[in-house]
Order: sequence, then structure tokens, then C-alpha cells
Amino acid sequence: MSVGIDEISFYTSNYYLDLRTLAEAQQTDPDKYYVGIGQEKMGMAAPDEDVVTMAANAAMPLLADGAGEDITTLLFATETGIDQSKAAGVYVHRLLGLPSNCRVVELKQACYSATAAVQMACALVARRPGSKVLVVASDVARYDLNTPGEATQGCGAVAMMISADPRLVEIDPEVGSYTEDVMDFWRPNYRATALVDGKFSTKIYLKSLKKAWENFRSASSLMFSDFGHFCYHLPFGRMAQKAHQHLARLNKCELNSEQLEGQIQDTLLYNRAIGNSYTASMYIGLASLLENCQQNLAGQRIGFFSYGSGCVAEFFSGRVMEGYERGLHREQHRQLLEARQELSYEEYLQLYRYPDPRDGEHHDIPSITTGRFRLAAISHHKREYVVC
Ligand code: CAA
Repeated sequence: MSVGIDEISFYTSNYYLDLRTLAEAQQTDPDKYYVGIGQEKMGMAAPDEDVVTMAANAAMPLLADGAGEDITTLLFATETGIDQSKAAGVYVHRLLGLPSNCRVVELKQACYSATAAVQMACALVARRPGSKVLVVASDVARYDLNTPGEATQGCGAVAMMISADPRLVEIDPEVGSYTEDVMDFWRPNYRATALVDGKFSTKIYLKSLKKAWENFRSASSLMFSDFGHFCYHLPFGRMAQKAHQHLARLNKCELNSEQLEGQIQDTLLYNRAIGNSYTASMYIGLASLLENCQQNLAGQRIGFFSYGSGCVAEFFSGRVMEGYERGLHREQHRQLLEARQELSYEEYLQLYRYPDPRDGEHHDIPSITTGRFRLAAISHHKREYVVC
């Protein structure tokens, strides 16, 4: 029996900052961002958006025609959780009207946890093949202003339905994992923005790729040359390009740089316009590949490298299914990205500095998001979500 991704949909805020605008404000050459890190725009969440509203918006298209009734588990992956105790997915469960017998849990290990969720979901479906597991990954990437990380912010959520006989990508059971206790990127509970040792984080990303790949090779008969495309964790596009060249060198691959670029370029398109979405980024990269690649991908193997700072990494593989095009939401994603509104630098700062009330009073949140779900108020330390 094959198990994997049956459907995929993503969401990002309606607002973005062009990195040219950031470069101008910082008196930096825009090519540092457009070329040096390979990013063009970064999504900025409105005050009434967070990981819950983005996740619900991402998942809604997957629930047409009563598809929610077969969901037995909702796994919510995030590293920008909104509560130390309650799983953000419980709010999503209500907003989407999922069955009360559907269990919900939140997973955390930096940007890696969506992959843990996908692997757990595949195992649950293999145990009970008629069931479906909804995996959502949702994050708002925030760094301090005027730090090297600032240009690599972003926000987004992805939702994937994991089922038997999937329409999009069958996930192979073999994985290569790597874990090491390092401090490359972290966010203590009392901080709203991440701390990062930027250069070290890029080095440990590449080291983890090597280690996870070696572990994968000891578990799987697949070799580098068996893969048509690769999806990498995408903190910024240039990181994936460096990672792919690194993996190609490790495997003494003879493809030229243009051919190597062809194996990843379609995965980078959405992320370049959204920015880092932490847990969601690699899977938004998968949607970007499936929806934008001009070749018919059916039957091709895809290599996935998932990385979460701290760090846990995993290399795994999947095979694209015949007729996969029919399960995509290409047009909806095109409209989502095209309808977005550009922010001035001042508007960006206003959103960045929008207060996060912590005093326990009642605070109505202005209605700004164009999404279906919004955070309407924070009252007595409780978040109040509504369907618009
Ligand atoms: N034209 C073209 N290229 C230019 C340029 C210009 N005018 N100016 C600079 N560049 C190039 C540089 O040569 C450099 O290229 P190489 O990496 O190939 O040498 C690139 O642009 C970046 O320039 P800097 O090295 O000077 O950039 P920086 O030090 O200011 O910041 C960063 C880079 C450290 C990655 C920073 O963006 C950062 O800290 N980001 C957050 C951390 C991060 O994303 N780490 C990734 C791994 S960790 C992870 O993946 C988990 C996660 O999601 C966070």
C-alpha cells in the first residue's frame, strides 16, 4: 500500500515588503538580497493574523465535499506557537469544523517539525488505511530589526492531507536522520524574535545535509542520480542552491551547474515571494515545484532535505504519482500571490511594531486581513478567532 501526500495547499498574508524597499532604507545594495540571498519579497502578517488563522486558511481548500469527516488526526507543526500549553491546532479544529473524534497535537523542533508530522501521519495512515491525517505547518519568521536576519523574515502556512493511495506524492519509508545539540538559531520563551548565529547556522545546515544523506544512503538503495528534483528547507533561496551544490559534490555528480539548478529552481519560486515560513517552507517549495515545473513529473523521485535548527535534520524521498496535476490548487495560489499588497517601509515598521497585548485587558484587533479567518480580540489572556 502506498501512503503520502494526497493534496497540498498554502496560504500567506496579503501584505509584503519588497526587499528593494528594505535595501533602500538600510542603504544596502538590493542585489545583496535579490542575488546574494536569492529573495525578493517577504510576507508580513497583519495584526489580526497569526499561525492559527494562516493554518486554517491553508487547510480550508482541502475540506471541500465533506473531506474533513475522514480526518482522524490533525498535526500542527510550528516554531512560533501562541501558547505554552494549548495546541494551536485545537483552534484550527474548531474553525474548520473537524469531527470531535479527531485528535489534535502540536509539534516543535524548529523548522523540522512538519517533517516529523508527515512521517508520523504516514505511520498512522499505514496502521489504519481508511483514515486521513491533516498536517498543517504555520510560522511567522521574525528577527530583530537591523540584523542580518531581517531580510530573511516571512510568513506562511501549508496544509497537506496524508492518505493511502495519495494523488500527489508517495512517501518512501526509508529516511536518513541527523541530530546534534547546537545553538545556531533559537528563541527563548520570553522573546518574540529569534536569536541566530547566522554564519554558523548555514554551516551546520550543510553539515547536517551530509550526515542525513549518508544515513539515508545506508537505509535506501536510491542514489543521487535517481532523483529528478530536490526540495530543501528554504530559509532563503541561496541556501538551497548552496546545499544542492554541496550534495552534488559529495556524490561526485557530473551534472553542470545549469543542470543542477534545473533540479531545484522551480521549488524556489513561491518562497522567493513569501520569505522564510520555517516549518512550512520546504512543503511550499514542493507545491511550487508541482505547480510550476513545465515537465511532467509523474514517476519522478524527489529528494527532500528538512532542517530544523538546534538541530534535527532528515533526508527522505518520494515519488510523484500519475495524474498529480488534478490534485493541485495552482490557480488559487496564483491569485493569492498576485492579489497581495505591497507595504512601504513605514507600513512595514508599523506592522512589525504592532503591540502584542499581555495585560489581560480586552483588546479588539482591527480587521485588516483579507483571509477567511481572523484573530478578532485578545481578552483576559484568551485569543478569540472568528470566521469572516
Ligand atoms: N550583490 C550580490 N551578492 C551580494 C552582494 C551584492 N551587492 N552583497 C553581498 N552579497 C552576497 C555575499 O557575497 C553572500 O554570498 P555568499 O553567501 O555566497 O558568500 C550573500 O550575499 C550574503 O551576504 P553576507 O554573507 O554578507 O550576509 P549577512 O552576513 O548579512 O547575512 C545570513 C546572511 C547570515 C544568512 C543572514 O541572512 C541570517 O542570519 N539569516 C537568518 C539565519 C538563517 O536563515 N540561516 C540559515 C540556516 S538555519 C535554518 O535554515 C533554519 C531557519 O529557517 C532559520
